Amino acid sequence: MEKIIVRGGKPLQGKIRISGAKNAALPLMCASILTDEPLTLRNLPRLADIDTLQHLLNQHGVSLTLEGSRPEDFGRVLTMKAGNITSTLAPYDIVRRMRATVLVLGPLLARCGEATVSLPGGCAIGTRPIDLHLMALEKLGAKIELTAGYVKAIAPKGGLVGGTINFPTVSVGATENILMAAVLARGETVIENAACEPEIVDLAHCLQAMGAGIDGVGTGRLTVQGVSRLHGATYAVMPDRIETGSYICATAITGGEVELLGARANTMGAVLQAFELAGVVINETVNGILVKCGSRLRGINISTAPYPSFPTDMQAQFMAMLSCAEGASVITESIFENRYMHVPELGRMGADITVRGNTATVRGVAELNGAPVMATDLRASMSLVIAGLAAKGETIINRIYHLDRGYERLEDKLSAVGADIERIGGG
Ligand code: EPZ
Repeated sequence: MEKIIVRGGKPLQGKIRISGAKNAALPLMCASILTDEPLTLRNLPRLADIDTLQHLLNQHGVSLTLEGSRPEDFGRVLTMKAGNITSTLAPYDIVRRMRATVLVLGPLLARCGEATVSLPGGCAIGTRPIDLHLMALEKLGAKIELTAGYVKAIAPKGGLVGGTINFPTVSVGATENILMAAVLARGETVIENAACEPEIVDLAHCLQAMGAGIDGVGTGRLTVQGVSRLHGATYAVMPDRIETGSYICATAITGGEVELLGARANTMGAVLQAFELAGVVINETVNGILVKCGSRLRGINISTAPYPSFPTDMQAQFMAMLSCAEGASVITESIFENRYMHVPELGRMGADITVRGNTATVRGVAELNGAPVMATDLRASMSLVIAGLAAKGETIINRIYHLDRGYERLEDKLSAVGADIERIGGG
């Protein structure tokens, strides 16, 4: 079983190049199903989740050509051509590995009039239902039945019909699924209380480049004029704002100075203000974002919420950073019901954190100590790396397959700015 060893105490200095965003690339890849022409995505990150989705798309009959897969290449180019969808089944053994594969549901329904997609099941951070996805598709005329752990969806004879969807809860995935279904539905679709994360904006811009009619991009109200077909396009995946935030935490906790190349400050929402409140110095540069942190960090209070509020995907990393801050911090996790799995692991390193319900109180300690710890989910595993970079001594992180789902070339990027980090025990 592979592990990562981090020997802490070295301030990070230098430059880190930010990769394409995992949570933008995944829906963008599913959009390839909506046309029989080639869709080319640039700046595709090299991640396990991307590989899993390529495997599923291939099963549907999508042909995939990948350039730039040499280790020294950065930002791969993937061309997908769904000339002929040979299967509308998304099987359990793939969907259970990566929940975002449920994003083929809307595109398959729109393109082929039917889809049979395994229910994704829960994961470490929560039950992760898809009821909002299904409610929205029914509003476009889809007939949905659940049998033996699968969603079977069938469009009306003439195809999906535009409708009005009003989400009771903001859902990134449900907004993406219904947006990709609506672009080929007959007539107008209005999506109220839509998620407006930058990754949704990226998807909408790509769909527009493919010929879709979408208004209100970036707002909570999307209006879609359905078209009969979409054409191919070439689109560059946006930089990963969560990877960016994660490396800001790593720089800050080690008291370093790093420039994040390709980072886009205008996609970061409230998280940049949270960093500044905590005492991190953030400056936009022509190449990205320059992060500096000379003095001791200050404790602050944060509550996770949909964009542009503080993102739940930054909660674990930010908590690790605050565990060494001066004073206390109160963190409220309002999106997922079980996203504090990193707390006992940080506790093993000397962090002083108390969880009551969905609120964690972090009392800053002068120093963390390295220890063997276990990654439990993607962002929790990054919080352990961040803590290890500052901890005295050696931290050994187990179950690092979680990390490989969402952080491209983590050890290379961190070693290049002075971290003492290595991966052991391969094979
Ligand atoms: C996306 O997940 C991201 N994943 C998550 O990132 C991210 O944490 C989440 O959005 C919130 O920002 C991808 O984009 C691949 P939601 P998603 O639907 O779409 C509830 C990471 O670390 N809900 O916005 O699954 C749900 O349980 C991952 O990169 C329903 O009740 O999230 C949650 O409480 C983790 N019914 C809330 O809504 C539904 O049908 C928000 O979930 C759908 C969601």
